[in-house]
Amino acid sequence: MTILKPAIFTLFAVAALTACQGAEAPVKENMTTEKAEPTPRAMTNKDKFTYANYDEVRVTHVDLNLDVNFDAKVLDGIATIDFERVKSDADTLVLDTKDLLIKSVRIFSGGIAEGVTDYTMDAADKVLGEALRIPLTDKTDQVLISYRTSPSAEGLQWLSPEQTAGKKHPFLFSQAQALNARTMAPLQDTPAVRMTYSATLRVPDGLLPLMSASQGAKDANGEYRFEMPQPIPSYLLAIAVGDIKFKPINDHIGVYAEEYILDAAAEEFSETPQMEEANTKLYGPYLWGRYDLIVLPPSFPYGGMENPRLSFLTPTLVAGDKSLTNVVAHELAHSWSGNLVTNATWRDAWLNEGFTSYVENRVMEELYGERRAVMEQVLDMEGMKRAISEAKRPELTHLKMPEDMEHPDDAFTLVSYIKGANFLFFLEDRFGRAKFDPFLKAWFNENAFKAVTTEDFLDYLNVNLRKDNPEAVTDVEIDAWVYGPGLPETARKPESDAFSAVDAQSADWVSGTVKASELETDAWSTHEWLHFLNNLPQGITEAQFAELDDTFSLTGTQNAETAFAWYMQAIKGGYDAAYPELENFLMTVGRGKFIYRLYGALKSSEREDLQFWAADIYEAARPGYHPIAQRRIDAIMNK
Ligand code: BES
Ligand code: ZN
Repeated sequence: MTILKPAIFTLFAVAALTACQGAEAPVKENMTTEKAEPTPRAMTNKDKFTYANYDEVRVTHVDLNLDVNFDAKVLDGIATIDFERVKSDADTLVLDTKDLLIKSVRIFSGGIAEGVTDYTMDAADKVLGEALRIPLTDKTDQVLISYRTSPSAEGLQWLSPEQTAGKKHPFLFSQAQALNARTMAPLQDTPAVRMTYSATLRVPDGLLPLMSASQGAKDANGEYRFEMPQPIPSYLLAIAVGDIKFKPINDHIGVYAEEYILDAAAEEFSETPQMEEANTKLYGPYLWGRYDLIVLPPSFPYGGMENPRLSFLTPTLVAGDKSLTNVVAHELAHSWSGNLVTNATWRDAWLNEGFTSYVENRVMEELYGERRAVMEQVLDMEGMKRAISEAKRPELTHLKMPEDMEHPDDAFTLVSYIKGANFLFFLEDRFGRAKFDPFLKAWFNENAFKAVTTEDFLDYLNVNLRKDNPEAVTDVEIDAWVYGPGLPETARKPESDAFSAVDAQSADWVSGTVKASELETDAWSTHEWLHFLNNLPQGITEAQFAELDDTFSLTGTQNAETAFAWYMQAIKGGYDAAYPELENFLMTVGRGKFIYRLYGALKSSEREDLQFWAADIYEAARPGYHPIAQRRIDAIMNK
């Protein structure tokens, strides 16, 4: 085979980039007479990924006054922090910081300066950063911190003009979840604490700043002012700055993007208003004011991020046929599950992601019907089974994550998402939609703007649903879902007729009964293609790969999900003809869902030439990847 040298300049040449787009866990009362084996329960629900002393002092509001300095690649300015005392004798405010340069700390009481204070910084921890300890007087209720971020802050990606589609202006975007708000500002960086925020930003001429807040216009001083009046956890703090244009979809929903993709994105996401209506019908009103979307540069490492009022999206969703809009349904659904009712610790991430994946699927069903919703359930189920089989240890396949998990990343696998969603499908099936839907609506309503634990949910379930329907589910069943490994036997088994038809055709082709050109694929949606590709049997020949490719032009396809599924098979099956386009994909797409597994498959390939090839591509592509993706792929490639 020919091994291609990576095209070193592709990364910076954006033609390519644009091509693609504290409390003890309560012990449950037994609801049934059945005897459950006692399961070791969560011992503590204190967030261990923060240094903040939030059981003593709670931040209530943060005001940021910042210069966005593209030359130095830093945010530079002042964070003013208001707080309340939980314990009246608290004499220290401990904040999270990571890679921040702290210049000075001043303390205030009732708006009157008390003076400059001698703060201390702990030694840096690789994951958690550095605790900033600020001594307080009895009266201190506000601190003012002068600081600047680091050019290598993990939560910020600074793109040069050449790395943007327009090529004239630089671009900055943030990604605070899970532990990176502390690389943007000193805060109590835990989902257990909520704060309102305001910001004043100064940006270079020609650039538009946006935040997860009300979008303020430029004032007479050339500054932009933002307000977020609803209290949010720190991981929802967000900023984007660039040559960004706006196109409305309706009176309170619209799309921001670089010009090149603005119209296409507005068209792709034109059904967002119907998604909001479906959500509202099921779970109550949207409480955040506007809902806008921003399509970020291709190095954005996620499919989407639910920043309030402004979901961040990867351009790989703009497929041209609305086939990948479930990600929008997902990020919008977080406006209820996650942003309104928030996991109190990352051990409870499934309360955000599992609930959201469930709501997402319900909304997809409302908009597009059961056929599409079930196809998505089956695809998700296949992905989750793989994630379960690949788990580093069985505890990471529980819904409640183990106390000693190393990094919140461990909680964001398809276990939290899809096992979580399936736990809710299980409850829905047992109690029936007539009871389960109002139950979930009440859960969101009664816990709005609160942080909740897994145990809070189980208590709520006991009191509000199980008490009146004691036969519907048993403690043992619930325990298996929440505190047990793998996928419980009680899981729904979604079956898609559409996929059965695909399987039948696939089998005919694999056995040689029909040619690829005789397959009836005209009516296949992206979902059917994904099912077909993901389930190609082991051992299909190079000639069979080539036949598929010649017939359907899979190599280089513009739908990023289909391309990813095909390249995974091409790696497994040794179909070398796909590698130039696979290289192009790795050089131009920074979405972690795709590239982590592609690098993983190449690195673990038995073929040394592929391992070397992947290392060369990564070396060339790495500078263009987001710092989060760099960290993750460094680990995969043992850098
Ligand atoms: N909140 C997540 C993204 C995230 C997870 C950021 C963990 C940081 C740490 C977002 O809502 C999400 O789940 N995105 C998914 C899309 C979804 C349809 C599964 C993604 O990015 O693929
Ligand atoms: Zn999510």
